[in-house]
Amino acid sequence: MLTVTLTGDNALDVDADLLVVPVFKGGIEGPGAAAVLRDLGVELPTTPDFRGDIGQTLLLTTPNRPAGAVLFVGLGRMDETGTDRLRRAAGEAARAGRGAQRVVTTLAQVHAEASAVQAVAEGFHLGAYRDQRFRSEPDEQHRLREVVIAAASSLGSRAEQALRRAEVYARATIAARDLVNLPPDRKTPADLATAVVDLVGDTCETTVLDEDQLAQGGFGGLLGVGRGSAAPPRLVEIRYRPDNPLGHVALVGKGITFDTGGLSLKRGSSMATMKSDMAGAAAVAATCSVLAELGTRLEVTGLLALAENMPGEDAQRPDDILTIHGGTTVEVLDTDAEGRLVLADALHYATTLAPEAIVDLATLTGTAIHAVGHYAAAVMSNDEELLGALRRAADLAGEALWPLPLWPDLDRLLDSPVADLNNTGDGAGGGSIIGGLFLKRFVDDVPWAHLDIAGPAFLPPERAMHYLPAGGTGYGVRTLLSWLERRVE
Ligand code: BES
Ligand code: MN
Ligand code: ZN
Repeated sequence: MLTVTLTGDNALDVDADLLVVPVFKGGIEGPGAAAVLRDLGVELPTTPDFRGDIGQTLLLTTPNRPAGAVLFVGLGRMDETGTDRLRRAAGEAARAGRGAQRVVTTLAQVHAEASAVQAVAEGFHLGAYRDQRFRSEPDEQHRLREVVIAAASSLGSRAEQALRRAEVYARATIAARDLVNLPPDRKTPADLATAVVDLVGDTCETTVLDEDQLAQGGFGGLLGVGRGSAAPPRLVEIRYRPDNPLGHVALVGKGITFDTGGLSLKRGSSMATMKSDMAGAAAVAATCSVLAELGTRLEVTGLLALAENMPGEDAQRPDDILTIHGGTTVEVLDTDAEGRLVLADALHYATTLAPEAIVDLATLTGTAIHAVGHYAAAVMSNDEELLGALRRAADLAGEALWPLPLWPDLDRLLDSPVADLNNTGDGAGGGSIIGGLFLKRFVDDVPWAHLDIAGPAFLPPERAMHYLPAGGTGYGVRTLLSWLERRVE
């Protein structure tokens, strides 16, 4: 990762390859911009490609100045508030300034608040991410290494704290991206369990249940989904226990290491990218991995439901009936609605630990992408207070989260003539909600929220923007961390 530091000096005097300064919509100069232009003796060129809109950038080379080049980054309207545009502008700069190794910026001076420093630092960390693990010749030359953020000295130690928090939030997000971006042949359920145990190290206790232990424990959902694969399922339990905890919450993640659909096979074009079907589990694991460092005062249990959904010779069939943990039976109508089967096991198991709240993250339904697009997750909950808290946390973290209703009228579509419920509904609309209603049957009366992250967890190259790369984004990690930190304030 990058090294990010603070300076109280004038950014224009700092030695760097690139100076990043903000410009508002209409070409209104942000902190530092007017001074640079004066020094250069030029006017800010406004072209249709650069009007100071958010996401726009303009690069000028500036020999004879401490920084060899200036990158103007658009922030949108001057009268707008909120820090995510700073995160975005920083992310954009990290990508547009590629080639620069040392950058200095005035971006955090737009708002004299610690949250601005955090947002700018996160934007650079996340925007500079490149997964080069599988390149035969990684490009080490053109890698951004160091960012110096000019910040108001009035912030004092709060700026340093914000910088540290940004580093931890970004490191966790990147850990989730790295897990999602692993090819599926290198992250079977057993491999992924090992990778997660390594990731959390000794900051948490971890337990991995193998297929025999799952059978003994009655985890019929995981076993049913996993039986078509040569790589058997796992349930990973991560326990973070601080001294004298102020409460206990459970985080549950869907961890399908590859989703072919099973015998209800996906078509080629929709099967590619399904290595990302474990993004919920990745977000939960990555979140847990930094709780000790953040000094979280809550007890947190992370549960990862890991299985590979394959159509092997012993695969489960449509018409099979599974017995989920706790005894509820499910008629499998479509083996491609597998996420809810493995989550049902994990959610019911979570209720036996008596947490005060359960939050699950899952790339559950393609229809969630239709409903809210690739830049937001849908959230469903049985508890208004929990829903509100998660929405506020997501907002502060710069992650979009939008509620869908758990319409009771749709619930009867889950009825089955032969079992307690079926796993699909009728397929005639409301698919994401029906997925939520299915999960709701397994959480008892525990306050619970379900984040359907099918859209934002993984982006095709044409959807990459600002600090969001193509591939795994780490969506959900910053929302969870922000929620956990604020829950005990
Ligand atoms: N993993 C998919 C959902 C998904 C689709 C995530 C596209 C990201 C991008 C999930 O297991 C699935 O296949 N869901 C089905 C449910 C249906 C069979 C009830 C779907 O969305 O079609
Ligand atoms: Mn599926
Ligand atoms: Zn799936």
